[in-house]
Amino acid sequence: MTSKRIAILGAGHIGQALARGFLAAGRSDREHLMATVPSPDKAKELGEELGIPVITSNPDAATQADVVIFSVKPQVLPVVLREVAHTMTREKLAVSVAAGIHIGFIEEILDGEVPVVRLMPNVAVVAQQGATGMALGRYADEEHVTYVKELFSSVGLVMEVEEDLMDAVTGLSGTGPMYIFQLIEGLADAGVKVGLSRDQAYALAVQTTLGSAIMARDYGRHPGHLKDLVTSPAGTAIAALHLMERSGFRAILMDAVEEATRRSGELGRLHMKKA
Ligand SMILES: NC(=O)c1ccc[n+]([C@@H]2O[C@H](COP(=O)([O-])OP(=O)(O)OC[C@H]3O[C@@H](n4cnc5c(N)ncnc54)[C@H](OP(=O)(O)O)[C@@H]3O)[C@@H](O)[C@H]2O)c1
Repeated sequence: MTSKRIAILGAGHIGQALARGFLAAGRSDREHLMATVPSPDKAKELGEELGIPVITSNPDAATQADVVIFSVKPQVLPVVLREVAHTMTREKLAVSVAAGIHIGFIEEILDGEVPVVRLMPNVAVVAQQGATGMALGRYADEEHVTYVKELFSSVGLVMEVEEDLMDAVTGLSGTGPMYIFQLIEGLADAGVKVGLSRDQAYALAVQTTLGSAIMARDYGRHPGHLKDLVTSPAGTAIAALHLMERSGFRAILMDAVEEATRRSGELGRLHMKKA
């Protein structure tokens, strides 16, 4: 459905990643995509870089669009919602990617039965390998669901969840690229420590992460089974695994996801209360 006009309000990290991902995937063409940022200089620079109109007026962008993606920080979202509320009708679709901000809160500001979909993508949408959680507002119908699923499937996996799980999605996959980048950097540092060059270590760490992720996705086997394939008796992997278990590697991941989930809820409550 490339014919729908999309406006991305707040072309920062995730807004730009989405714009680049949609263009690269061919899900939107340059005539049907625009974005906003507050600074005229940044707007000009980004417009030239992305090859799409980037302007500073949110109401102008929202007026021209069928689908308005709100990708500003959660604390800025209420301001931007109020700014464009008069342009949002039942015929449009509002998509929020703001962490922690509830659909009911957005619907209340937009008023007038505007369809709202709340998403939690991650930055890997830029490589069309994102993971996006999706929850629906009360005025979003099957057509909206199909459209959003198609659009965001072009930049990765889309999973519909109940809204009360969106903080959990934020904690796991929204924040997730950070865990994996830390993992890659840690593996690469380790490679350097045991004698590899920095370039060799990064290349091996990245490819190992990628290959393992593809196996976990495509082989239909439990990760524990895949781990067993690598741990031969008295071998290197089981020796390393013993050390990882002693260090609480998996518990650290659980703590990190739990903390990010908690923080997502906390930030959302804070910004909705202030607004
Ligand atoms: N980053 C992620 O991986 C990720 C993943 C999923 C969801 N999210 C959500 O996406 C949203 C944006 O996060 P981000 O990391 O992309 O933040 P960001 O890089 O700071 O992007 C926000 C963008 O909004 C612009 N902006 C600020 N005020 C504005 C206004 N009044 N009108 C239009 N644009 C305005 C900012 O411009 P200036 O920089 O010039 O102020 C910036 O370009 C957040 O709600 C976050 O929860 C982020």
